[in-house]
Amino acid sequence: MEIKRIAVIGAGQMGSGIAQVAAQSGFSVSLHDVAEEQVKKGLARIEGLLEKGVAKGKWTKEEKEAVLSRIQTTADLQEAVKDADLVIEAVVENMEVKTDLFRQLDQYSPKHAILASNTSSLPITEIAAATSRPESVIGMHFMNPVPVMKLVEVIRGLATADEVNETVRNLAETMGKVPVEVNDFPGFVSNRILMPMINEAIYAVYEGVASPEDVDTVMKLGMNHPMGPLTLADFIGLDTCLYIMETLYEGFGDSKYRPCPLLRKYVKAGWLGKKSGRGFYQYD
Ligand code: CAA
Ligand code: NAD
Repeated sequence: MEIKRIAVIGAGQMGSGIAQVAAQSGFSVSLHDVAEEQVKKGLARIEGLLEKGVAKGKWTKEEKEAVLSRIQTTADLQEAVKDADLVIEAVVENMEVKTDLFRQLDQYSPKHAILASNTSSLPITEIAAATSRPESVIGMHFMNPVPVMKLVEVIRGLATADEVNETVRNLAETMGKVPVEVNDFPGFVSNRILMPMINEAIYAVYEGVASPEDVDTVMKLGMNHPMGPLTLADFIGLDTCLYIMETLYEGFGDSKYRPCPLLRKYVKAGWLGKKSGRGFYQYD
């Protein structure tokens, strides 16, 4: 199946990154969020990164303009998806929000359109069941920051068609990524391994084993991680980290996935990491 037009739903850090890479790969992109303000923020993030690329000599000013001309923005969902061959959802990591959205995507998107979710951990089969086309629903899990990270986890739901899987794998490659197919289990592979490590790092701070700075230094200098786990948690978003841990905890019913109370406390306080200006570190 040929993909020409991609709609990206959610213009946060992941949605804007996906829209940027799709437009840089030559696709026509429609970027949507709940309000104009969010959409503008997403577009400004893309413009900023493209401008940085011009300054570094990665591409020309004309190439930057050509990429931007391929991105339309709208706060109207129906308008965003009306001509889409593929919709990629990147909204908050919450099953109710996602199933409600997929019901609408099913209603407003062309019959042939593939509906993909960038969920970090939630069951694709359950998201697909909210639509009348579960065979066209699939997980397309990009990593943050999308323009830099090579991996895309591709997750098939119970009913996902072979052709849909193949189209999405090919598309990931066209976008310069490496697709890896994984089964539909909580957290897939990436977050089943990464998030318990981050949660454990938070427990180390919670129990007074070491400060956030020292935990990060241990993992950076001792294990050669590019970012310490608490810097990474702030970068991902502490709300997203908590939602992923809750999915693992509920999905496996195993106490080893219990979210750290300190993580809960920070999210309740609105300390969501870099995106809110405060998490384990201060960003203003
Ligand atoms: N957006 C876009 N590009 C970015 C970026 C961002 N937020 N941050 C850095 N970059 C780019 C820079 O422009 C630079 O590009 P060039 O080499 O082409 O000039 C490149 O990345 C390297 O940047 P820096 O030299 O400034 O910084 P760095 O060497 O420390 O690398 C990093 C930055 C790539 C983010 C690195 O710190 C890293 O790999 N961190 C870990 C990232 C990670 O683990 N991501 C996965 C998160 S989990 C996830 O995504 C799944 C989930 O469901 C939660
Ligand atoms: P974010 O908070 O930066 O952005 C989410 C955006 O979705 C916000 O702009 C919000 O206004 C918008 N939104 C919420 N409900 C919406 C709706 N019904 N319709 C349209 N837009 C809506 O979050 P993010 O980090 O971009 O994460 C988005 C998704 O990607 C989540 O499912 C997350 O688990 C997943 N993900 C995140 C990361 C990461 O490192 N942050 C990595 C991979 C996958």
